[in-house]
Amino acid sequence: MTTTSDQASSPAVMPPPGCPAHVPGAAATRLYGPDFGADSKLLYERLRDQHGPVAPVIVPGETPAWLVLGYQEIRKVLTTPSKFASNPRNWGAVQDGQVGADHPLAPLAMYQPMCNFEDGTAHLRLRSAVRDSLEGLELRGVRRYVERYSRRLIERFGSSGRADLVSQFAEQLPMLVLTQLVGMPEEEGPRLVEACRDLMKGTATAVTSNEYVLNALTALVAQKKAQPGKDLASTLLAHESGLTDQEVVEHLRLILVGANETTSNLITDMLEVVLTEPRSAAQLRGGQMTLFEALDQVLWNTPPLAVLPARYALHDTELGDQMIRSGDMVLLGLAAGNADPAIRPDLSTSMAGNRAHLAFGAGPHGCPGGDIGRSIAETGIDELLRILPDMSLADEAAPRPRTPTWTSSHLEKLPVRFTAPKPASQAAREELPSTAPDDADAPAPGPGPLPEPVPYSSSWWGRLIGAFRRDH
Ligand code: HEM
Repeated sequence: MTTTSDQASSPAVMPPPGCPAHVPGAAATRLYGPDFGADSKLLYERLRDQHGPVAPVIVPGETPAWLVLGYQEIRKVLTTPSKFASNPRNWGAVQDGQVGADHPLAPLAMYQPMCNFEDGTAHLRLRSAVRDSLEGLELRGVRRYVERYSRRLIERFGSSGRADLVSQFAEQLPMLVLTQLVGMPEEEGPRLVEACRDLMKGTATAVTSNEYVLNALTALVAQKKAQPGKDLASTLLAHESGLTDQEVVEHLRLILVGANETTSNLITDMLEVVLTEPRSAAQLRGGQMTLFEALDQVLWNTPPLAVLPARYALHDTELGDQMIRSGDMVLLGLAAGNADPAIRPDLSTSMAGNRAHLAFGAGPHGCPGGDIGRSIAETGIDELLRILPDMSLADEAAPRPRTPTWTSSHLEKLPVRFTAPKPASQAAREELPSTAPDDADAPAPGPGPLPEPVPYSSSWWGRLIGAFRRDH
């Protein structure tokens, strides 16, 4: 396996013989670059027509890989770790030394002590700590946090009668809730939201933000060792797997960053459906469909992670009529798999309430936080629709652009208007904890400034997200 150095501007390139993207008579397609992104769903269908359920593609760094598009083939890869590993040390390009520190996919290739990079017993050890800690959380308690933070966010923009639901709601809510679940003091929430969002954008300040998150989590772990509480940091520390402090910090960060992006995409995509599809909105209002069921429809049609990277073939193996070579990188096209005509001949058939989609992955690494993500989305949207019942798009004719990356497609804005709600009742105000920076008598809550930059040599998260966001 080898990476190509040719930087041709066309989305289709011929990989050199011997690389996994080399299919006689067929060009591999770039999943990035100036020509990528207009309509990724159309692209997946074109690839399916051309190659069947497994297609050769090129991802950032001119890196050849296989994109699995078939529902059954994706499940097979995810549920057969004896053939497809998660540990990047099994990637041929890493073994051959082709992925250097400056390669855009280096963050995928650089092993980190986290469960998503491990296989077998090493994975089980880390995963059982994460899974048990998440299962220990009461969903009822999670919902209470979601209600509280939803109301606060709505209070910030409510009186104006207008809002952008992406930046003012969906991008904020999951992180505010997650910081509480991991055990952060409440006043840290807004700052961490800001730092994690900055980190995920892969901007110039991402390194500083990453350091801020890391420092905050390291301090949290030290504090919870001395004074355990009922939170994820404490349960991870106490778990019988015996995680090191560094492993606890890394997994808290994995939860904060990974869960925030996906849950925020789910909220945005569900809100877009509510605001733009009159049939779904009417079914929700009329009680023919619950929000809980409607979320499944969104998870089928627009899974928050469209492409899941990555697995690495442990042996030469045939998959969907293609010969995958040992060491090849295999990407899981969750959005394409969910739309596979072999299992969904008619995409307009309702999938509400059907949970067999691939949005949370499957097999040993399948998402252990799916119920929490769903609960944050469901409760938050419910609160929003309850408090702002006449909410509608600010401009129905305006285009709704998305930021396409090779792993996901993020709605940029969702501007709405509504009748400003009456000021919160005294009773509602009394529910808010007095330590909060945004108490009723205080100015509207807002993320405080980040602390002074601290030099930091390893910006793994920033580079990882940056690699996904970078489109050329
Ligand atoms: C709608 C929201 C979410 C979506 C769509 C989602 C999706 C996913 C996907 C596709 C995977 C990869 C599965 C694989 O490799 O086979 C994953 C893994 C993971 N997710 Fe989620 N996730 C969501 C929310 C959450 C939340 C809220 C948490 C924690 C509170 C969480 C924690 C994790 C962890 C720890 C892993 C790694 C598991 C492992 O490697 O064993 N996720 N998620």
